[in-house]
Amino acid sequence: MTRTELPAVPLTGGDQVHAPAPGTEWWRDAVIYQVYPRSFADGNGDGMGDLPGITARLDHLAKLGVDAVWLSPFYRSPQKDAGYDVTDYRQIDPLFGTLDDFDAMRARAHELGLRVIVDLVPNHSSDQHAWFQEALESPAGSRARERYVFRDGKGADGTEPPNNWQSIFGGPAWTRLAPREDDGPAGPQWYLHLFDSSQPDLNWEDLEVRAEFEDVLRFWLDRGVDGFRVDVAHGMVKADGLPDWGGKVAMVEGSDAADSAEGIGAPGGSNEGPMFDQDGVHDIYRAWHKVLAEYDGDRCLVAEAWVSPMSRLARYVREDEMQQAFNFAFLTTKWDAATIRGVVTESLETMDAVGAPTTWVLSNHDVVRHASRLGLVEMADGPMNGIGPRDPQPDAELGLRRARAATLLMLGLPGSAYLYQGEELGLPDHTTLPDDVRQDPAFFRTAGAETGRDGCRIPLPWEADRPGLGFGSTEATWLPQPDSYRALAADQQYGVDGSTFELYRSALTARRAENLGQGGLTWVAGYADAKDVVALRVADVVVLANLGPAPVALPDGAEVLIASGPLAESAEGPALPTDTTVWVRA
Ligand code: NOJ
Repeated sequence: MTRTELPAVPLTGGDQVHAPAPGTEWWRDAVIYQVYPRSFADGNGDGMGDLPGITARLDHLAKLGVDAVWLSPFYRSPQKDAGYDVTDYRQIDPLFGTLDDFDAMRARAHELGLRVIVDLVPNHSSDQHAWFQEALESPAGSRARERYVFRDGKGADGTEPPNNWQSIFGGPAWTRLAPREDDGPAGPQWYLHLFDSSQPDLNWEDLEVRAEFEDVLRFWLDRGVDGFRVDVAHGMVKADGLPDWGGKVAMVEGSDAADSAEGIGAPGGSNEGPMFDQDGVHDIYRAWHKVLAEYDGDRCLVAEAWVSPMSRLARYVREDEMQQAFNFAFLTTKWDAATIRGVVTESLETMDAVGAPTTWVLSNHDVVRHASRLGLVEMADGPMNGIGPRDPQPDAELGLRRARAATLLMLGLPGSAYLYQGEELGLPDHTTLPDDVRQDPAFFRTAGAETGRDGCRIPLPWEADRPGLGFGSTEATWLPQPDSYRALAADQQYGVDGSTFELYRSALTARRAENLGQGGLTWVAGYADAKDVVALRVADVVVLANLGPAPVALPDGAEVLIASGPLAESAEGPALPTDTTVWVRA
């Protein structure tokens, strides 16, 4: 059915909600690319990505035109949570290589003009960490137990957990130790783990824990890193007395995922419980700010903090704390014009109030990729956390069209933007992974009620005609690649007009040339309340996105710089089809 075209509206006038923000620090307007080391590129053919693999493929990022790379954890780890369970914060896991491999990767990245951000996981360690092992071998009340959150249980013989908290991965957040001869009357103690039982929470009231992490920061700063992404930045300090809480924890706030009772993405889950966003956590970031200030070159900290409302998030990026925080409110926003305008305005105003840059992000290793999320006709805003073979499947074409439009909209916004590896190829999730290849602890801890995050962590396709699509030198890949990845391999897209890679590349080039990252933002007056159109002006560029079914006519003489998809031609001239974004010179 052809829909009546919406008439052209002048792209002038409107309310400015964000003033131009010139700034010298590189992170204020950087586009930062997330590398998930397990799945980026495999240098030794064992099916698992590694540091030499990353180094060999850094040219791809330079060609794409990003400013920095953030690497998910590569530290020594039993990999119970894909490396977010660290046994040694100063060593590389042999799966990924050696410290020399890290130095070579960092040197090559810097040579290519790419900054390097590493992941820091301070809320919990692995249960294989020397400190936790020492705590297991030491009695209740010992110094070794002080570094974690050990408590006696409740009830007769301490058989009940110390409180009712649930793990974000499902099940109780407490595990009881095996009995020891020197146990007191309460019997074996329990330890807290907000995530898997192999990830005991560290006790951030303990000064040795604080000192250790400042030392870890210095270790990596001395090795030349430009910043840290701080895992669970809102979780390290817990409310005094660890009070019971009736709510449900969720990593992805407000997600529509599955109908499991607990765990990531549980309906109505929130981060407002006594385990999250406590005021005391900010002392840690003030101390870390000072550590970074000892070094030259504008090093930065970025908070992974799933907190709301946004004014609470802004507290993490006050002048003497971190530099950036992920904008998950943007990531979880529905494909709806008014909702998008609302979250963009709120993000800019809230971050402006503390002098921090706003960030934007659409995908990462914890959520369904936006090319799949936006292809779910019934749930354009969810689920966040995994689509499995028994779920309704996304419409791949719709998803990719919307994903490209969403990305072009995002890259037009002022501030800093995060890309997740593979989105520049338009990759969808693997949505039909068989249960027996799954690895995410969330799947196992919920007995499969949560699909988990494996589908967004599939090894990248580099070369369509090579085994394993060129992920490594063999056909081994630690998770299977879906058939759809072959046509999307990087070598099928380089230099190809209209490919997703070339769309990203030209958007990043234009973003830099037009200095959009530091521009002000004005909502174009004629579209300020439009039902299906988002139209904003940043610097000299108008970003126009059509989220509705009817084509939208472009004004006469509009100079289109970039389009996320083909434009429609009508008697009146070019028009913007459904689910398409353009950048227009205004
Ligand atoms: C957030 C990380 O992004 C996620 O992958 C991890 O499972 C949890 N934090 C626990 O570290």
